[in-house]
Amino acid sequence: MQIVSTVAEVQKQVKEWKKAGLTIGFVPTMGYLHEGHASLMRCAREKCDKVVASIFVNPMQFGENEDLDSYPRDLDADAKLCEEIGVDLIFHPKAEEMYTDGFCSFVDMNGLTKELCGKSRPIHFRGVCTVVCKLFHIVTPDYAFFGQKDAQQLAVIRRMTTDLNMDIEIVGCPIVREADGLAKSSRNTYLNEEERRAALVLSRTIALGEKLVSEGVRDAGELISAMKANIEKEPLARIDYVEAVSMDTIEKVETIEKNVLVAMAVFIGKTRLIDNFIV
Ligand code: PAF
Repeated sequence: MQIVSTVAEVQKQVKEWKKAGLTIGFVPTMGYLHEGHASLMRCAREKCDKVVASIFVNPMQFGENEDLDSYPRDLDADAKLCEEIGVDLIFHPKAEEMYTDGFCSFVDMNGLTKELCGKSRPIHFRGVCTVVCKLFHIVTPDYAFFGQKDAQQLAVIRRMTTDLNMDIEIVGCPIVREADGLAKSSRNTYLNEEERRAALVLSRTIALGEKLVSEGVRDAGELISAMKANIEKEPLARIDYVEAVSMDTIEKVETIEKNVLVAMAVFIGKTRLIDNFIV
């Protein structure tokens, strides 16, 4: 497995693979890899001849008071996991390599980013789209793999590739959970013991939502109220949002039907966690 830090090195290797007629799968990450990332990489390993993973904590997608500086990093452990899975190349650039002097081009989106995380993190998706677009141009993958835990991000990336005619198939992979239900996230590491226990309110509320839908609840307002009431029982939890939106447009819906995304962001102490289910 190669670990490279410059755009030129990635481009050189990818060109050789393409010349040999090999397909390329790409898993963009911010590192501190866990089983959620591993599942994306395994999926890429199965589907493609060569697998590229990027590890880059992208400053552009963090707001002013967010956790850019404290975001967990561990390149050695990440490289070990990638090696075990059979990743062929890790791209681990410095911020200066991605955003050279005078950088001033951005990918912005008018739709899909107004609700959910886009509402509470106004510059987030501009940063995500810009970096993912750049990474797609650098790696030129045939397939790119994203987790359904960031369901809005998955919808945004799908829209961007369609709108900008990128010839890349976006593959969405299911949420991976801890044994007790908590969705895997690099940010779970911020939780102390008491918060870790309290964080289970997210997956419990997802399970409640799924049960209510399976029992026939179709009114989005009724579903969301029941889910919010469940979260409010947990004293350490503070709701950012619980919403039902169309998976394609990320606009609010009134009726729960096929392809509706029920998503939440909840602060446990200072840590903001997300979870969701798709009907
Ligand atoms: O999901 C993430 O880890 C990031 O948003 C991504 C897609 C790697 C872009 O920085």
